[in-house]
Amino acid sequence: MSGRIIEYRIGSARIRIMADRKVYMPSAATLCLARNMRIESGSRVMDLGTGSGFLAILASKLGAGEVVATDISARAIRAAKSNAMLNSADNIDFRLGSLYEPVIGEKFDLIVSNPPMTPSKSPLPRYTWGGADGREVLDEVIRGAVDHLRSGGRLLIPVISLVGIGRTYRLMADAGFNVKVLDYLTHPFGKRLMRMLDYLRSLPYADYVYDSYGRLCWRLLVLEGVRS
Ligand SMILES: C[S@@+](CC[C@H](N)C(=O)[O-])C[C@H]1O[C@@H](n2cnc3c(N)ncnc32)[C@H](O)[C@@H]1O
Repeated sequence: MSGRIIEYRIGSARIRIMADRKVYMPSAATLCLARNMRIESGSRVMDLGTGSGFLAILASKLGAGEVVATDISARAIRAAKSNAMLNSADNIDFRLGSLYEPVIGEKFDLIVSNPPMTPSKSPLPRYTWGGADGREVLDEVIRGAVDHLRSGGRLLIPVISLVGIGRTYRLMADAGFNVKVLDYLTHPFGKRLMRMLDYLRSLPYADYVYDSYGRLCWRLLVLEGVRS
């Protein structure tokens, strides 16, 4: 850890996160998801792929009764635990493991997840790599969620246009969710995506837009699925 602390504000909540270049730091997607996170007091929340712990800490601050935060990376779990202490969030249970393995047989009122979604044929850091089409983790998060939500429970996820927005919406609907779009943003391509442009253009579901400065941008939607 570098020891530098970054402070974020979501509504009236203030969250402090210790910078760590090997752990995914809160991004435009994280913050957009965070601004749309509605927590019922006392509810049970899962943050799947917690990274720095940001969304789990926010859920705790917004009144969740209990939060289970998971990640496949031991380093992320260590960082998230430290960040929870830094924010005095003491009702978060951190668990190491892939997808729903750490919560077998458990149910939640809300599952929030910002899965790695960068499409690439060659491996990228695990916190951002979503496999060749970007959907490897995302699809499993959606397919597994129904079994881990109480009736009326919600799945809250972002989806980026590079992995197919319509495809994601349909997968959620087919899995039994009533789907709503809560938010939308566009974000300019970074250097890594610019280098991958030819590959992204070859993906059948990927799309992008130009902003008023002529920059290539991906689109992001925040989707909420309510389990009937
Ligand atoms: C894009 S980051 C999001 C981190 C954090 N939730 C946020 O929004 O800032 C994705 C996180 O998912 C984790 N991850 C990747 N594959 C996973 C899997 N199969 N099961 C659980 N976590 C996974 C990564 O280690 C990483 O911390």
